[in-house]
Amino acid sequence: MDNKKTIFITGANRGIGLAMVKESLKNNFFVMGSYRKKSNTQDLMSLDSDNLKTIELDVTDEDAIKNIKSKINLKIDYLICNAGINNGYGSFYNEDHTPKQMIDVFNVNVVGSILTVRNLIDLISDSGKIIFISSIMGVQNHEGSRATAYRASKAAVNNLMISISNDLKPKGIIVTAFHPGWVQTDMGGPNASLTAEDSARNLIYNFLKLTIKDTGLLFNYDGKLMDF
Ligand SMILES: NC(=O)c1ccc[n+]([C@@H]2O[C@H](COP(=O)([O-])OP(=O)(O)OC[C@H]3O[C@@H](n4cnc5c(N)ncnc54)[C@H](OP(=O)(O)O)[C@@H]3O)[C@@H](O)[C@H]2O)c1
Repeated sequence: MDNKKTIFITGANRGIGLAMVKESLKNNFFVMGSYRKKSNTQDLMSLDSDNLKTIELDVTDEDAIKNIKSKINLKIDYLICNAGINNGYGSFYNEDHTPKQMIDVFNVNVVGSILTVRNLIDLISDSGKIIFISSIMGVQNHEGSRATAYRASKAAVNNLMISISNDLKPKGIIVTAFHPGWVQTDMGGPNASLTAEDSARNLIYNFLKLTIKDTGLLFNYDGKLMDF
């Protein structure tokens, strides 16, 4: 793999994750793309590249994350915590906000992000970058009520990003969060304003430009700083 930069993307089998895999390959990365279950990976597996390694990983399963470390056997320059769910689009009194659905959202989006970073941190290269795919829906200053649990989970992602950035700053590791835009995926729906390809192209371009001055900050997909 020569001296290629490495990027590890969770939730890489569809949506923004898959688009980031394709864009990273175009940008000459060696890509590690993880998927939750093999049955849903046709598009990822059809990418025929020597620069792509696919890995089975449910980000809520800490033992599984520990187990993949020995399979990776490479330093990670960019760790992208992208895997996420929104299984409740209504507001807090809607029936899609059952306790189980809300717990699942926090488990994947919040706990899964922490477990991913905590268990892969030894593999992050010096001055490596950790990027959480968050959402403008997690910004505290908003007037919405829908997707109450999802919003709160992304507010938590923005917040844990700050804690982890403070922990890792002395090591020179850059930790940021990005809003990917409103994107045409299963989650974003067909009316979203951006294609996954446009979002991924902007995201990868801006990941490459990050420096330690950016640690602890939230960015829009186009590189603009966001207030959160
Ligand atoms: N689309 C938007 O407009 C938008 C806007 C703001 C933020 N985001 C964020 O962007 C990220 C990607 O969203 P998307 O639109 O691409 O969503 P998506 O099309 O629904 O894809 C979600 C991805 O996350 C994976 N995933 C879910 N639970 C997982 C788990 N427990 N372990 C590992 N992987 C898991 C899914 O795997 P399976 O295929 O196995 O389910 C899938 O690969 C998410 O964090 C989302 O919150 C999206």
